[in-house]
This record gives sequence, structure tokens and C-alpha cells, in this order.
Amino acid sequence: MNAIKVHIKSFGCQMNKLDTNLVSASLTQAGFTLTESVKDANVVLINTCSVREHAEQRVISHLGHLKHIKQTMPDLIVGVIGCMAQRLGRELLEHQAVNIVCGPAQIPQISALIAEAIENNKKELAVTDNIRRPAPHQDTDALEKFESACAVTQKQSIPAQAFVRIMRGCNKFCTYCIVPYVRGPEVSRPPQAIIDQIKKLADAGTKQVTLLGQAVNSYQYNAGDKTYSLADILAKTAQIDGIEWIKFVTNYPSEKYFDEILKVMADSPKVCPYLHIPAQSGSDRILKAMNRQYTADWYLGLLERARQIVPQIAVAADFIVGFPGETDEDFNATVELVEKARYRNCFVFKYSPRPGTASEKKLEDTVPAETKQARNTRLLQVQEKISEDLNRDFLGKTVRVLVEGPSKKPHLNAAENDGNPQLAARTATDQIVVFNAQQNLTGRFAKVKITKTAPLTLFAQLTEPLE
Ligand code: 5AD
Ligand code: SF4
Repeated sequence: MNAIKVHIKSFGCQMNKLDTNLVSASLTQAGFTLTESVKDANVVLINTCSVREHAEQRVISHLGHLKHIKQTMPDLIVGVIGCMAQRLGRELLEHQAVNIVCGPAQIPQISALIAEAIENNKKELAVTDNIRRPAPHQDTDALEKFESACAVTQKQSIPAQAFVRIMRGCNKFCTYCIVPYVRGPEVSRPPQAIIDQIKKLADAGTKQVTLLGQAVNSYQYNAGDKTYSLADILAKTAQIDGIEWIKFVTNYPSEKYFDEILKVMADSPKVCPYLHIPAQSGSDRILKAMNRQYTADWYLGLLERARQIVPQIAVAADFIVGFPGETDEDFNATVELVEKARYRNCFVFKYSPRPGTASEKKLEDTVPAETKQARNTRLLQVQEKISEDLNRDFLGKTVRVLVEGPSKKPHLNAAENDGNPQLAARTATDQIVVFNAQQNLTGRFAKVKITKTAPLTLFAQLTEPLE
């Protein structure tokens, strides 16, 4: 088994990145070797995303490329894991390039599936048959065991930072969204398992954890004597030595536990004052068609409350433009909401009908591609102006950042660049900060003084590395 080399490519959200890290750790534990190069690999795994058609198209074109490679490397094993594997199942297995199809709930089986595919030279399928049924105990137990066994040995994508899943699945059924159909119903993980995992991560040098859930603020675990919420998990995590920053994504705008969660944020310096809370639209008509359970005014009221409880909070959101039936008037309502919300950052997506979702089945994709593109561009422009204004307030201030690594793009111009390597870091409120430093401070906290600002980036000078 030792000689088998696996290459993993990952698409999609943070949940998927975490799965990729866990799968990599489990493969290493099982005796496989990981490789960065496809040419070197005996096995190629693709961890896939189904959230928009574009994400799936990229995987399909990648598979076309692998089919081509297989003409000269017929023994190459190709596995598709993740959301697209669950959505398409057997259909994907029929693709000429594909040997293994493995859904997100079956990743604990991945080593066995690879071994079987190699040994028996046959195609392997492992997906959940009826994904909306609550998972049988043995499935949840297998996932729990897998998560605990692999979480600590995983190679972190960013040094000193780790993702920690606190719940799986989603029960919200926004009409556009594929997630409930590929990740199943909500299951909150036991608080003790989460806390034990974070303690081990802290012992191994993790300084920041990001708690993950599709609607992370829906976390709820009944332990008999007490029902735990996200507020409880945040408070318990804040007590763990070594953990300095705690973030959590992503939040569904809801009353439940909202004040409790924000109060923990206000009380604990470790809980970062950052709230990612997608609005998706500013039009009440569209919000209703999306099955979002709020109006634009109610949502803005919620943000106001968040700012009362945590005055320094930074808020971010996602929006979908071009949802079926979205008129200019609806879109203008979204622009208005973005202007009022004063987000630190916005992510904007063009509506993409996903097979089997309520909007795909019941509503025609009426908004032309050019209009979706124009609205996307316009909304980003509106946000850019706000981000620019908010970032300008940082000029001259000293902020604490956690260094992520060398900056990929050269950001500083020649006059500002002192020749030292350029580092990229993040603030507690999730802003990217670029600065020069003699030492490699990756994975460490530092204090930097902001010298220049742009809508998406802050530029700084190192004042002191902290530790
Ligand atoms: N089309 C476009 N964007 C979508 N999102 C989710 N489903 C779709 C879809 N069908 C966006 C939402 C979500 C983000 C992760 O992706 O804005 O918050
Ligand atoms: Fe993540 Fe959703 Fe994409 Fe799955 S479909 S990888 S849950 S964004």
C-alpha cells in the first residue's frame, strides 16, 4: 500500500476544504502518500461542489482532462467525492474517467473504496440513498469517529488556523439551494466532542478556530440536563488555553439564540467581532420566493441590534442576483439594503438553477444572463464604495493580525516595498492586511500600523511581532 500516491483537488466552501483536510489525514493514516502532482499520482480524488452550475462544469471539464490522461495511464484511479458525488451518484460513476463516487457522509470509507477499486478493478459507489432521512446511528457514529481521528493530524490549509465542524446538514430549504439535498438534515455534534477536538488542536499549536455549519447559529444539542447553543460552544471554546481567536460561519438571520451569541461576542475578547449573515436579497417579494423567513426591514433591525450589543462588529453577507422574477425594482431594493447595512464585505452570486430544488422545479429562470451580470457588477460597485469608506477609517491605526503566509500577489508598489518578503495576514474582522517583514511570521500574531487602504486590502508596517 505504501507506494500508492494520491492527489486531491478541492472545490467549494469551507466545509469542503475541511473534508479535504480530513480525507488527506485519513489517507496518510492508512499508509497512502499524498502528492501535489497529478502526473505522479496513482489516484486522483476531486472533492466537488454543487452550489452553482459553474462549479459542476469545472469538475466535468477536469474529468474530461483526466479521461485523456487515462489513455496513457490506464491504471490511474479517479474518485469523485463531495456534494456532486451525492447529487449525481450512479450517473457520475458512468463517466469513463470515474472509478469511485463517494458522498460527503461516506468519506470515512474512502481508504477502503480506493483499496477495493485497485484490487478488484471495479467501479465503487458509496452515497446516501435517501439523503433527507435522518442518518442511521452507525453513519453518524462513523462520521464522528472519523472527524475526531483525523481532525488533529490534518494538515492545516493555513498555519495555526483550523476549521471545526459543529454541525452537519441543513433544514432551512431556501428554494434555490442544493445543500439540504446533498448534505442531508441538520445534525449538531456533541459539545464534548467539539471541545475535546479544539483542546487537541490548541495543544498542537492552533491559535484560531473557525466553527463551521451551514446555518451555524442553528446549532442545538440536547444533552439531557441542558440544551447547548452556539453561544455555549463559543463560551466553552473561549476557555481553552492557546485558542486566541474564534470565528464562526455562516449565520442564518434568525431570532433564536441571536442575542446570546452576540453577548458572548461582546464579553469575550477571543470571539472575533465578525458576523457573516447572508441577506440574499433586499426585496421582500424575492425573499418570500426564496423561502427566507424574514423581511428586509426585520433583517436591518437585526443588524442594528448586533451593533448595539457589539459596537465594533464587522458584518458581511452573501447576495444572489437574478433570482427568477427579479425586477429592476426588486434589485433596487437589494442595492438599498446593501447601502443601509454598511457591510464590511459582500459576496455576490448570479442565480443558478439547481436540479431538484424548489425554485428550479417551480420557477422559470427568467432573468437574462446579461442582466444578472450587470446587477452583479453594480452591487459589487456599491459595496466597493462602502468597503473603501470603512477601510479608510483604519488609516494610521494599529491592529492585531494573524499572519497567514507569503502574499501571493505583490501588493505594495516599488516605493513602499522595502525588499523584505511580503506577508498576508487577517484582522479579527476578517480584513486582509499586507505588509513586509524580515522574519517569516506565518502562523503568528503581529501588530501592524495601517499605512494605506484599498476597498479589499489594508497595507501596513510591522510595529511588533507579538509572539
Ligand atoms: N445560485 C446562486 N447562488 C447560490 N448560492 C446558493 N445557492 C445558489 C444558487 N442556486 C449562494 C448563496 C449562498 C452562497 C454560499 O452561495 O448566496 O449564501
Ligand atoms: Fe459547500 Fe454547498 Fe458547495 Fe457542498 S454544495 S461544497 S456544501 S457550497
